[in-house]
Amino acid sequence: MLYIGIDLGTSAVKLLLMDGEGAIKNIISKEYPLEFPQPGWSQQNPEDWKKAVLEGIPELLTGFDPSQVAGIGAGGQMHGLVVLDGEDKVLRPAILWNDGRTAKQVDYLNDVIGREKLSQLTANIAFAGFTAPKILWMKENEPELFAKIDKIMLPKDYINYVLTGVHCTDCSDASGMLLLDVEHKCWSREMLDICGISEGQMPKLFESYEAVGTLKPDIAKQLGLSEQVIVCAGAGDNAAAAVGTGTVGEGACNISLGTSGTIFISSEKFGVDPNNALHAFAHADGHYHLMGCMLSAASCNKWLMDDIFQTQDYAGEQRDITPEKLGNNHVYFLPYLMGERSPINDTNARGTFTGLTMDTSRSDLTQAVLEGVAFAIRDSFEVAKALGIHIQRSKLCGGGAKSALWKTIMANVLNIQLDLPESEQGPGMGGAMLAMVACGLYPTVAAACKKLVHTAETVSPDPAIAARYEERYRQFKQIYPAMKELFPILQ
Ligand code: XUL
Repeated sequence: MLYIGIDLGTSAVKLLLMDGEGAIKNIISKEYPLEFPQPGWSQQNPEDWKKAVLEGIPELLTGFDPSQVAGIGAGGQMHGLVVLDGEDKVLRPAILWNDGRTAKQVDYLNDVIGREKLSQLTANIAFAGFTAPKILWMKENEPELFAKIDKIMLPKDYINYVLTGVHCTDCSDASGMLLLDVEHKCWSREMLDICGISEGQMPKLFESYEAVGTLKPDIAKQLGLSEQVIVCAGAGDNAAAAVGTGTVGEGACNISLGTSGTIFISSEKFGVDPNNALHAFAHADGHYHLMGCMLSAASCNKWLMDDIFQTQDYAGEQRDITPEKLGNNHVYFLPYLMGERSPINDTNARGTFTGLTMDTSRSDLTQAVLEGVAFAIRDSFEVAKALGIHIQRSKLCGGGAKSALWKTIMANVLNIQLDLPESEQGPGMGGAMLAMVACGLYPTVAAACKKLVHTAETVSPDPAIAARYEERYRQFKQIYPAMKELFPILQ
């Protein structure tokens, strides 16, 4: 049988077709626009996601027997607020995970409701990208639209709703709404009250690997699929990527270099970072995880290449960055192009190049960007270390993991071994694997990982380069505190 994995990303949806033995049969990608209506704001039209998925699936299946498709599972960009009226019309563009408009609502939640209370109720504090502050923002800024809200959901839940008609979400993605009691996996009545919404507006909760329903007859017809195709609840893209890279079980770690950069630490037990710098969320395997999320990772390199250098030759721009240059760059880059989430939680933070001289070259800037992202991931890695979590090795996935140079920089900045799975299609592969569990092909997510995920390559740190980066990281760490007070003045 065949399974479809949907990776509903920020710049595109990637669709993947896989058989039950883990062979990837086809992959297609469809881009959609991303709007930045004001600096630091970020939104997208859910109808564009719908169109891309509904047009993409028949394209994905070209040349394959559609009657072989048994299940569909999605991993989606997290936290985005999707709101529908009573007639299922999308009320406004979805406000995305990297949108920083909610600084005021975040301050209200963290300072007036209080961090301690939020952490007791939801295991997390407020961050600008989380869903609850967005609901408060709508309530304050768009009261007429707010009054019309009938259903609230997350991006991939909108796709599941289109496919099945079931208003559902899964616990991993719901964790990032700041409305879920993460430990007990139920909606927090108190948080819903604080946001002025009711449980009736919230989706039904499932574990990621549970079936939520089957395809609606009209959708099955449109896609050329059977009405018996099972759709599972799916997961937030990071939890789905963790499944796709086999990051399950106690202490397993995955680092993703996508539009965002994340470090994801799987745990069998529920646990909270006492300082809430790392998010405490449910995992797609039915357990939990801690996660640090930086808002701009591979997107920083994309920005430098596409917008500033105006080139598509990413590899060419990295060619001059030879091993002896690693750990010897005099330029530093703060990767806060969209403000930053983990661990500094600062919507005012901005990107900066520091240390430029007359001999700074184009490739020094490229190197600084790759290194700045690695250093910022290290910031979250250090938070985990301070909690007594000692990561010896990690998986690495996401678009950034395709660059041999960036993998080497990451391994040396973190001074750990990095395992690269055979497929870097983390969230899409994880989505397909969750569908396999929902269809009964594998009894658990862990069993599916054991059978289907294999390491293709391990990148090890070089002691001399790692030592140089240790010194560089200490210097990098001083830049943000020195700039912090300046950022709000520069706005
Ligand atoms: C995680 C987060 C991002 C998005 C990217 O908390 O906000 O990783 O999920 O799609």
